[in-house]
Amino acid sequence: MTEQNTALSTALIHHDYQPPSGFGAVPVGVYKASTVIFPNVAALRARDWRHKSGYTYGLHGTPTTFTLEERLATLEGGKHCALAPSGLAAIAMTNVALLRRGDEVLLPHNVYGPSREMARTLLTEWGITHRLYDPMDVAGFKAMLGERTRLVWLEAPGSITMEFPDLRALARAARQAGVLSALDNTWGAGIALKPFDLGEGAAVDLSMHALTKYPSGGADVLMGSVVTREAALHEKLLLAHMRLGIGVAANDAELVLRSLPTLEVRYRAHDASARRVASWLQTQPAVRRVLHPALAEAPGHEHWASHCRDAAGLFSILLEAALPSERIDAFCDALKLFKLGYSWGGPVSLVVPYDLRAMRGDAWRLDGHLVRFSIGLEAADDLVADLERAFQLLR
Ligand SMILES: Cc1ncc(COP(=O)(O)O)c(C=O)c1O
Repeated sequence: MTEQNTALSTALIHHDYQPPSGFGAVPVGVYKASTVIFPNVAALRARDWRHKSGYTYGLHGTPTTFTLEERLATLEGGKHCALAPSGLAAIAMTNVALLRRGDEVLLPHNVYGPSREMARTLLTEWGITHRLYDPMDVAGFKAMLGERTRLVWLEAPGSITMEFPDLRALARAARQAGVLSALDNTWGAGIALKPFDLGEGAAVDLSMHALTKYPSGGADVLMGSVVTREAALHEKLLLAHMRLGIGVAANDAELVLRSLPTLEVRYRAHDASARRVASWLQTQPAVRRVLHPALAEAPGHEHWASHCRDAAGLFSILLEAALPSERIDAFCDALKLFKLGYSWGGPVSLVVPYDLRAMRGDAWRLDGHLVRFSIGLEAADDLVADLERAFQLLR
């Protein structure tokens, strides 16, 4: 098409040069496209956007996003994966895919807060009801599975308060009742938990993962995924993905692809440091309780021990209830290596004080001021020294 009489603008767009094929390198290529070019009308008509046999439109996948999806399906032990632009968007995509007017969804009372907010507002407005269950009470959970219950969300451990449920029993009860189960597997990250093989034949139907945390690992990307083993469930997710116009940027997919090979070693490093810091915190007089699932004093420790050997770098502590809340804020402000921030899983350690009574009301049964830590990749001894300095304020 680049002939002598072609205008320069046309020649620069429709250039004849094709680089040689067969380029080999470690990174996955970053393909960017809104439009996908078809070789002929027959191909345009024949391609099915639901299958990874070809490309149809930027939103429906590129070699970069297809590759990331396949690797994430392997990470979680599933077969199919759909990407979303954040963990919360992946939760929304799952709800839109599976819930219809008149259905009920069950959420644990320690569910990731914005997920509960979605149920309280959008889902309620769409005629989908929800109830909160106590994830530590399997019998109570079973009793709540009713005629209209279509989906249950599971989380292990629960957000902020870190209770580790008997996931196997909850997943099994949902399946026996013919109710779909979706695990928020962000904490387990595909390392600590295999959601489709929880042991003793138990499995969830869907695994949602906020890739924003450990798979990204850089505190610089927002992304989520939903993995399934069932083709029919995956198709429902893809329909929601398509109807909502969900897509992820190629550069973001590239960052997650770049971080995935180090996920397991990073996760183990976060885990080792977190256990060291958590054990040290147990020796501090101002600390009433350390809510780290691998510690015997944590709620549901026995369930953690029967499901996992690994743990993430995330845990909370309860500080003496008698301390005034301004002192807790001053303690957090005094930390230098720990930064104040929410999105865990990155290299920098984080701290957040939570007012759980305001957030959870009666469901909050533990006494004391709750402070959550995400342990980054700094040397654990330096983190302990930082905490030790800040604790002097509480003496
Ligand atoms: C347990 C859990 N699930 C989901 C999310 C949502 O992830 P994102 O920040 O990518 O929306 C978070 C974020 O903090 C989380 O902690």
